[in-house]
Amino acid sequence: MNAVMEGRRPRIVVTRVLPGRALERLSAAGDMLLHEEDRAPTRRELLAYVREADALLCLITERIDDEVFDAAPRLRIVSNYAVGVNNIDIAAATRRGILVTNTPNVLTETTADFTWALILAVCRRLGEGERLVRSGEWTGWSPMQLLGSDVYGKTLGIIGFGRIGQAVARRAAGFGMPVLYHSHRPADPDVERSLNARHAALDDLLREADIVSIHVPLTSETQHMIDAARLGLMKPTAFLVNTARGPIVDEAALVQALHNGVIAGAGLDVFAREPELEPGLVDLPNAVLAPHLGSASVEARTAMADLAAENLISALAGRRPPHPVNPEVLPS
Ligand code: NAP
Ligand code: GLV
Repeated sequence: MNAVMEGRRPRIVVTRVLPGRALERLSAAGDMLLHEEDRAPTRRELLAYVREADALLCLITERIDDEVFDAAPRLRIVSNYAVGVNNIDIAAATRRGILVTNTPNVLTETTADFTWALILAVCRRLGEGERLVRSGEWTGWSPMQLLGSDVYGKTLGIIGFGRIGQAVARRAAGFGMPVLYHSHRPADPDVERSLNARHAALDDLLREADIVSIHVPLTSETQHMIDAARLGLMKPTAFLVNTARGPIVDEAALVQALHNGVIAGAGLDVFAREPELEPGLVDLPNAVLAPHLGSASVEARTAMADLAAENLISALAGRRPPHPVNPEVLPS
């Protein structure tokens, strides 16, 4: 029996305050229990919150698995405030007939913009320059100071040619960059032509690209996809940028590669054990580190909140939500 059949208002759990009007919509749709603190709920808090929940709106900082589902016998919908859903055990949700939804598209361009911020920052040593100016030790313009690498005209390698990967490729035209991409299958020839992009095997892409940007989801197939051996294929002058998920890169191997000059630098928005950092990473001047800011614009985060609320409210009302991740649980 669901809340509507029982004639009661559904219980909606939301694990963080969200921008815009989404919370107003959610509280109109049911009895909302909001975790108001600006930190992830502890495991114990989460398990207590979901006890009577019909619906859960959660973040990538929450692991949603069998333990949560066991604690939430009424749960019907998990609305993730993210496009990546690696924080959720989708197979377990599907086995239990629980719908999972996510927030694609509305953050694509924002995340692609931020990828370029990291590409430019690491190639042009912006982090080091900023730290120098703020230290008060900058002595003025000098011909040899903080020389970086040109971006214009270099070859861009994109791993994962989906929504964000292609949005990053679209921006490459302005930098006169040919694009190599690696994906499960080649894109439509018209897309390849319009993006000046060519499909390549992963190892070939790593050998040829000057800047490698990662845009695959985190799955069992992509975990440690970039390991010591693959870093060793890259040019010593090449840069690695990761705005996808931390565990796609073997971080211990990356620290060694950056330290030993196997590659020239890395721009990282995501880390394997956020907010913990791999030992040695903060000491490396050739790493630009960001606190998972890919979708962090007012516009994108507000649109994500609206979409996550719409997904949840539609599912509770028995309508097909805009972005189901496991549509097989929907009634046919
Ligand atoms: P998407 O449209 O699904 O694109 C992912 C692409 O990767 C798809 O083309 C997929 O191909 C491909 N792919 C998957 N596994 C692969 C593999 N083993 N080898 C080669 N290609 C593979 O997803 P998106 O919207 O671009 O988002 C991508 C990821 O970015 C998300 O999953 C999330 O982790 C991350 N993200 C991070 C931020 C941030 O704040 N830093 C923001 C948004 C997203 P198939 O479709 O054939 O599987
Ligand atoms: C953010 O990391 C997302 O997957 O939306």
